[in-house]
Amino acid sequence: MYLGKQGAKLSYYPEGIPPHGGQLVNRIATPEQKEVFLSKAEFLPRVQLDQRAVSDLEMIAIGGFSPLTGFMNQQDYDRVVAEMRLANGTVWSIPITLSVSEEVAASLTEGGLVRLDNPEGRFIGVLELSQKYRYDKKREAINVYRTDDEKHPGVQVVYNQGPVNLAGDVWLLERDPHPYFPTYQIDPAESRQLFKQKGWKTVVGFQTRNPIHRAHEYIQKCALETVDGLFLHPLVGATKDDDIPADVRMRCYEILLENYYPQDRVILAINPSAMRYAGPREAIFHALIRKNYGCTHFIVGRDHAGVGDYYGTYDAQYIFAEFTPEEIGITPMMFEHAFYCTRTKQMATTKTSPSKPEERIHLSGTKVREMLRRGELPPPEFSRPEVAAELARAMKVSV
Ligand code: ADX
Repeated sequence: MYLGKQGAKLSYYPEGIPPHGGQLVNRIATPEQKEVFLSKAEFLPRVQLDQRAVSDLEMIAIGGFSPLTGFMNQQDYDRVVAEMRLANGTVWSIPITLSVSEEVAASLTEGGLVRLDNPEGRFIGVLELSQKYRYDKKREAINVYRTDDEKHPGVQVVYNQGPVNLAGDVWLLERDPHPYFPTYQIDPAESRQLFKQKGWKTVVGFQTRNPIHRAHEYIQKCALETVDGLFLHPLVGATKDDDIPADVRMRCYEILLENYYPQDRVILAINPSAMRYAGPREAIFHALIRKNYGCTHFIVGRDHAGVGDYYGTYDAQYIFAEFTPEEIGITPMMFEHAFYCTRTKQMATTKTSPSKPEERIHLSGTKVREMLRRGELPPPEFSRPEVAAELARAMKVSV
């Protein structure tokens, strides 16, 4: 594969690829800060975070969203929505905002500290409130999601959130182990260290929110043929209701890794972020996150982070051309729609297979869910049998 100027340059970072913006952010309170925050907790005004905001707080704190140190102010927000850049020009494609109701906003004073609670009411972080501002939801929807259709799951979240954004630096009180996947909680500082220990100079990151199927496996392995390591990074933050739950997806990954992958070339870790379903803009966002985790390359396949038919099949690949390789800093590895080719009896794309459309087996996530509900297993051309069995078990259908 032709790596291009940027790809060639990336392999010369002895200390690993620089994080986005140059510095890996750490906003986890020190023991001293934590003590001060705890002593003030009772007296601070409170904001209750939803699941997405909890994920965002976590991602900011561990450096996954470097260079962000908090929720966006109006200058950053406006330029991100309009131009996919922070106020200082750094590329950033998705607004990271904390929205509240008029009443909550009115109870808070700029310049003060705000206590951030999780949905269960537990004190988990602090915001140094620098700014409160109103924003235009429709403008955000049209620019970020390319639609103002309320049925779009990302747009729906924007339309349902409060009308005022709170901006300011944050601290996470402490880094708790993940309740379900503690062994797979590998934060950016740790993944960078791991890559170094393994001697991997080039690492390809893989984003996913779906159970692994053979097209995923194919593009991951094609990528792995040209780089040193694979960083499998399934998203375990909020997803839409009909997506397969994260615990099921993680089990499928474990099964697959045990049986079909070289153990010393792959690291499986969770990505705590929430899904936005913003297609092209989210592909840029996903790439920048993986750069922060230390990946030098990032896979972008068909309809990356898409939903329904809001985006063209390859829009999430075309968007990378709007920036220079240097300002993105991580090399995208683009893949065409992969399928099982019955003529050559292997996974392929139209770049490598002479097949006619009727000789290609590919199933949509919706189709697979329907099959599982009917008690049918997806065929081995689509899914490894062990993974299909696990999915069937999880969907409580008899195998
Ligand atoms: S996503 O919302 O996280 O992008 P998914 O988990 O389905 O959804 O996809 C993970 C990655 O695999 C994305 O880069 C996507 O473009 C790619 N991908 C999924 N299915 C295919 C396929 N059949 N062919 C090529 N790329 C694919």
